[in-house]
This record gives sequence, C-alpha cells and structure tokens, in this order.
Amino acid sequence: MTPQEAATLAKVEVLADLEPVVHELMVVHEAKRVLWFPSELLAPPPDTDPDGYLRELRGRADGISLPARVALALNLLTEEGLPHFHRLLATYLGGDTFWSKWTNLWTAEEDRHGAVLHDYMHDSRILDNPVLERMQFEYLRAGFEPSWDKDPYRVFIYTTLQERATQVSHSNTGKLAGKYEPTIGTVLSNVAKEEARHYTFYRTIFKEVLARDPNTALASAAEIMPSIDMPGVNMPHFREMADVIWRAGIYGPRDYLAIVEEQIRYWAIETLDGLDEIGKKAQEKIMAIPKRLERVAGAMETRSRAKTFSFPVTFAREFGM
Ligand SMILES: [Fe+2]
Ligand SMILES: [Fe+2]
Repeated sequence: MTPQEAATLAKVEVLADLEPVVHELMVVHEAKRVLWFPSELLAPPPDTDPDGYLRELRGRADGISLPARVALALNLLTEEGLPHFHRLLATYLGGDTFWSKWTNLWTAEEDRHGAVLHDYMHDSRILDNPVLERMQFEYLRAGFEPSWDKDPYRVFIYTTLQERATQVSHSNTGKLAGKYEPTIGTVLSNVAKEEARHYTFYRTIFKEVLARDPNTALASAAEIMPSIDMPGVNMPHFREMADVIWRAGIYGPRDYLAIVEEQIRYWAIETLDGLDEIGKKAQEKIMAIPKRLERVAGAMETRSRAKTFSFPVTFAREFGM
C-alpha cells in the first residue's frame, strides 16, 4: 500500500465512524424538505388555458435581460454536471451504508434542478436551446477530474463551498430574472432553498470530520479553500460568462470571500487547538485566505472596464456592461 492509499483508507475509516451522524442528518433533512417537482412548478394555474398560459409566459420572459439569461445558462449547465458530482461522491460513499443512501437521495434531489431549468428554457425559449444542449453534451463528455478527487475530505470541503455558491447564484439570478418573469423567480427560489439544505449537510459533516481528525482535515481544507474551480471551467466561453455574472452582481470573488469567511467561523478554524505541525501550518494558511481574496476582488474591480459581450447561447445578441 502506498502512503497515499494508506492515508485515504484512514479517512474512509473516519467516514465510516460518521455513519450514525449521516443517518441523523438525513432524518432532519427529509423532515424539513419540501419535495417539489418540475412539472408542478411550471404547471399553468388550475382552470387556465395551457396554450394561452405558455404564450403569456413567453411574452413576459422576453423581457429577461441578456446578462440574466447568461446566468441562467451557466447555472443550468452547472446543474447538468450532476453525473460528475455523483461520481465524486459515490467513489467514497458507496456500499450498504447511510452514506450511499445520502448520495442517492442527494442525487435524486439535484436531478430536479437541471430538469426544472431545462424545462423552463424549453417553455420560455429565452435561450438558443440547441446550442445549450450541445454545450451540455461537451461539458459532460469532457469529464471532471479535479486534483482533489482522491481525497474524501477535500470532496466534502469542495461540496460545502459549491452548494453555498450555487445557492447564492440561483437566488440572485432568480431576483434579477424574476422581476420580468415571476415563474423563474419561484423556480430558482425553490432550487436555492434546496442548495441551502445540502450546504447544511456537508458543512456539518465536515465539522464532525474536524472533531475526529483535525490535523489531516485542516490540511485538506487548506488545499481547497483558496479557490474552487467550477467543473465547467473548460467549457467554451466559461470565463466570459462568469465575467458577465460578476458584472451583473450575481456571483463573484466577493461572494466567494464571504463564503470562505462563513466556513472559517462555522468550523471555528481560528480557535482549534492541540494541533500538530501540519495542522498548525494548515490553520495559518486558511486564516490568510480572506486577505488574499480581498486583494483579488479589489484588483478585479480596479482593472474592470466596460465591455461588450455576445454568446451563441443567447442568440449572439450583443450587449455591453
Ligand atoms: Fe443543484
Ligand atoms: Fe445542491
């Protein structure tokens, strides 16, 4: 066994010890969950003519701005990356355990996020759907092999940050697009609430990991927390789309900074004691992250100039920001 394999095995043992916690969290999660379905959220109100309803929805959706459409496209694609995320979790959280029960439940919940957004795009026609579907195809077939996928601890840290980031992004996109078309506002607020509940699960799990194995857990956190790449990062136009989303005030480095600070507080990283050399170094590294992120955000803001954008998925219509 290589030292890396031995380290992974030790982590998997910690996860096995967490099974009762997973079970308990699942019970709480399901008790709080409102199980909605895409066709229910998108259904015309009772006694409404479905064709007329669809025409009116399209009329309203026509007003959704191009930056909001770009955000919707990127959010949708991120959700449709579910096979990548499922695989990352299923690698360590398999077998006949509460872990795999959680992974399956989580996957079933997440699957509705992509579905409801996809159905909405079909109904509203605010994106060039054939272009969108080809992007999704390329995104899935490109795979997602982050450097951290061999470390189950890092998987939880990534998932914690990612759930929170998607929550913020869906929620702000919903506020922006919902001004013109309230249905998408309702859809995204439901999706965002679910991301918030997933976030609660993963951050609680990592807190438990920290309590059991603080030094190794901190070392993993110090690797992930400086920045997270979305799995779509290699997609054509990804960086420009992210730029639009930042300029629209939906999601950017300051939001990521707030998310990191939130985890530092919740995991009480600053006050963890009794650490060994590795743990102390990781703790110091993590505590220095917010300052660095602050600098990155500030530099981006000073450098920023007005810019014109155009994306095939938004019918190549030009817009300036
Ligand atoms: Fe999601
Ligand atoms: Fe989620």
